[in-house]
Amino acid sequence: MEQKFLMHGGDYNPEQWLHMPEVLKTDIERFKEAKINTVSVGIFSWAKLEPKEGEYDFEWLENVINNLYENEISVILATPSGARPHWMADKYPEVLRVNQMRQKMLFGSRHNHCLTSPVYREKVRQINTELVKHFGNHPAVQMWHISNEYGGECHCELCQKAFRKWLENKYRTIEALNDSWCTTFWSHTYDSFEQVESPSPVGETSIHGLNLDWKRFVSDQTIDFMEQEIKALRDAGSDIPVTTNMMYHFNDIDYFRMAEKIDLASWDSYPAWHKHPETETAQDTAFWHDVIRSLKRTPFLLMESCPGATNWQPVSKLRKPGMVKAASLQTIAHGADGAMYFQMRKSRGACEKFHGAVIDHYDGNDTRTFRDVCEAGDMLSVLHEVTGTYTIAKAAVLYDWENLWAMREAAGPRNAGLHEDECIEKSWRALRKLGLDVDVIDQRTSFDRYKFIAAPMQYLFHPDFSQKVRTFVENGGTFVMTYWSGVVDENDRCFLGGRPYDLMDVFGLRAEEIDGLYDWEENSICQPLEGEKFADMKDSYTCKYLCELVKPTTAKTLMVYGSDFYAAQPALLCNTYGDGKAYYVCADAEQEFYDDLYRKLAAEAGLESLLDGEIPAGVEVTSRKNDDAGYIFIQNFNREKVKIKLPEGEVIYGEKDGSLEPLGSVVVRTAL
Ligand code: GLA
Ligand code: ZN
Repeated sequence: MEQKFLMHGGDYNPEQWLHMPEVLKTDIERFKEAKINTVSVGIFSWAKLEPKEGEYDFEWLENVINNLYENEISVILATPSGARPHWMADKYPEVLRVNQMRQKMLFGSRHNHCLTSPVYREKVRQINTELVKHFGNHPAVQMWHISNEYGGECHCELCQKAFRKWLENKYRTIEALNDSWCTTFWSHTYDSFEQVESPSPVGETSIHGLNLDWKRFVSDQTIDFMEQEIKALRDAGSDIPVTTNMMYHFNDIDYFRMAEKIDLASWDSYPAWHKHPETETAQDTAFWHDVIRSLKRTPFLLMESCPGATNWQPVSKLRKPGMVKAASLQTIAHGADGAMYFQMRKSRGACEKFHGAVIDHYDGNDTRTFRDVCEAGDMLSVLHEVTGTYTIAKAAVLYDWENLWAMREAAGPRNAGLHEDECIEKSWRALRKLGLDVDVIDQRTSFDRYKFIAAPMQYLFHPDFSQKVRTFVENGGTFVMTYWSGVVDENDRCFLGGRPYDLMDVFGLRAEEIDGLYDWEENSICQPLEGEKFADMKDSYTCKYLCELVKPTTAKTLMVYGSDFYAAQPALLCNTYGDGKAYYVCADAEQEFYDDLYRKLAAEAGLESLLDGEIPAGVEVTSRKNDDAGYIFIQNFNREKVKIKLPEGEVIYGEKDGSLEPLGSVVVRTAL
């Protein structure tokens, strides 16, 4: 499928309204008015599609899809595995999850199937096959929405068995497992794979190798479940693209691995707009847009966002005028080919009846939310030509799931919070403020296209990672690594012989100790007392939480600690290695430190801002391109108007004079 337009639409649940057929008619009228071109259906329809075991009813869905098609609205068809009918749980209790405490769940809620159950997998295969039979060739159906927000874990006997098999495949012998997990500790040695149990508060949690492998297993098993779902569709003859909707800062699944199995990445974004200044929320949201884009480094899709207030956050804040449009444009600016909503129509009852929707219980088209959605629809149709263009970033920041799993688990320098997400985002924000597109990649992503890579808190090193870093720097790249890096191997065993493992020569130092600071303590990163100052940096920056003490060998000390017994010891160092530069940041420095440092390093690395001149704070700049044209998106998330110098080219959306109202945006088509 070659997509020709930016998708605008969202989750639609017509199965809730079958007893009121006039609703479908109204909905379609509203959709057309709001330039809705795509809806996702069938996400939670299993009980309506298979009301009794093996007895299917597709007529209602066919009627819905036909009606949508006649009105030129495309369909993303979901597989319904996110929630199951009651009969299935009654007849086959194995489909229900067991929690860490080994308690079996009752029927209810959703996203809670056993990841292993052969019965559940078979039932899903059957319904997916039937869906292809009925709708696989329907011209309206453009894409598969596989399940919904996969996540969570199951500790049932079937999952335990699958986990043991997964371990056996990985380690082959129990001796190898014991060695990797360091089980001599506390006499926790395993005699056989049969003795292994998933981590539990009433059992084992002290073996970090076990905890890490369990996380990997859960992630792999979820991806395997998804692959089985996709296989059913392919076996039944469907070859349209598949996606699955991912989530914000979601820890359970290694999305980089999941993305390898789908055709395009998509996610659900629910920022708490207006809780903090919009500039702050905009950056936080944009970071995750960049993660999702970087999973496949191709255009992604925003599957869900809320056109009004959600009903599950502590406070259900309305979207202020202009917010829906700005959030949708931000999605496109970061590389999406569609900005969709949850939900098209508000349900009448149950736990989402007050969740924002395109169409309210009131039904009319004269609501503020509906008008907002219409405006977004107009904007997306004006911007249709950016569909399929892509983002080419020269700078990247590392965000690696396995590293994060291991680091968060490790009883280490700061159990009161490592602030690892903030540390990663600080690097990303500093680069973004310079007007750069930034990818967010993992340790296994190829580094080839980048000139500058920031690697905050890479505690765990994948087997090939150190070599990749070495080659990258040798070949002229700028690599910034921080404290608490290169500490453990892929099994969470500490590297022997000094850290950062295998890179002490590249960084020209050895990290020796790391000091955890209480929340109320701070230190500073200062200019050296004697000798040359590190140009363009302030005299002092605050640092908190973690301060690492390092011994330089060939590295040059650029800045030093300001206080405590390690005052005047190195806090920022640089080593020249091959044709490149390896920088080491020893402590959790404030944002301004990264802003100032990266301004220097980006210039040295030859990274150019998308805009001439200083970018005002709170203004976001991104780009997309293809072989014919480039596009620069500029958005003002401040509550005040700003004026900027527009890049050369044709303004295809927004004010032409460079003045940007609060939440205002400009899109410029540029020459290549
Ligand atoms: C998630 C789900 C949707 C809906 C929304 C509500 O993203 O995928 O089904 O529950 O949350 O915000
Ligand atoms: Zn299970």
